[in-house]
Amino acid sequence: MEIRTTESATRVDDARLVEILANPGFGTHFTDHMLTVEWTPDADWHAARIEPYGPLSLDPATAVLHYAQETFEGMKAYRHQDGSIWLFRPEANAERMRRSSQRLAFPELPVEDFVGAVEALVRADQRWVPPGDGEKSLYLRPFMFASEVFLGVRPAQHVTFMVIASPAGAYFKGGVKPVTLWLTEEYTRAGRGGMGAAKTGGNYASSLVAQQEAIAQGCDQVVFLDAQEGNYVEELGGMNLYFVFRDGHIVTPETGTILEGITRASIIELAGKLGHQVEERKFSIGEWRDGIASGDIVEVFACGTAAVVTPVGTVLSKDGQIAAPESTDLTMRIRQALVDIQFGRADDTFGWMR
Ligand code: COI
Repeated sequence: MEIRTTESATRVDDARLVEILANPGFGTHFTDHMLTVEWTPDADWHAARIEPYGPLSLDPATAVLHYAQETFEGMKAYRHQDGSIWLFRPEANAERMRRSSQRLAFPELPVEDFVGAVEALVRADQRWVPPGDGEKSLYLRPFMFASEVFLGVRPAQHVTFMVIASPAGAYFKGGVKPVTLWLTEEYTRAGRGGMGAAKTGGNYASSLVAQQEAIAQGCDQVVFLDAQEGNYVEELGGMNLYFVFRDGHIVTPETGTILEGITRASIIELAGKLGHQVEERKFSIGEWRDGIASGDIVEVFACGTAAVVTPVGTVLSKDGQIAAPESTDLTMRIRQALVDIQFGRADDTFGWMR
């Protein structure tokens, strides 16, 4: 796919950029450019361009505004000590977007076009990749939406793919410390055959009322149970979960109705290399409660691209609380092992970096 640059832009001067990169927060500052590609049935993917970052002008009848046909990805670019810039497993994001596209009856963007688009935007906005002296990175947000102007309910005949970028520090204010969870028993995220495994705006939108309840309860994040039995632990609002047992084995909820996290998949390999057996299986809320009470579960952690690896503390629910696990040792070791690969401080033995 050929990508045209229509015009170069500089939204902030170098002095302001240094200030932003010193304290980027999450999702509030955006880079100089954005990348756009169009799809129509006749022309396939076309008109790939990098333009100055700015607002979109949309007809009020644009389909996405009515039926929420939108998929997205989250990934990061990391600057290494020598100044070079690297992506972490971009093909995995491209593959997941293809699966999300299938679920929403969107056209599929070929993996090489997805990766080429992300690389092109990072190249155009490389001055926005924070220095590699900490754990800051450039968060990349590829997304696709139904841009056809039409109110009929059917797969869109005009789809737009875009990539924007935003420098990122810690996802949670206050840095890496155990997050507290609210167990929602009223709301569920996805049922069998639903959109739980698809990274769509609607999937995340459906988490927000429960997340609001979590905040009202003084918690950081919500944890969802399965929709069918209300018994099995699924995922948080924007992260997958892991449970570490005293004998060293680790359990993570099986996929199907939850997001297939790339950090989640990477941890399965990483923990294996650190000598821990990882099981992907159904994991009940009772097993969590009993495991903490008996001391069999020694650590719980959450993971995602934005949050990286974050220890989980206390869980509150209508029926009382599950205490914080006793340790965060392995959690922090896994986190360190992962970010050391991402920032080029450890050998990339898995071949994950591009
Ligand atoms: C990510 O981790 O990249 C996500 O897309 C989830 C969201 C909570 C930011």
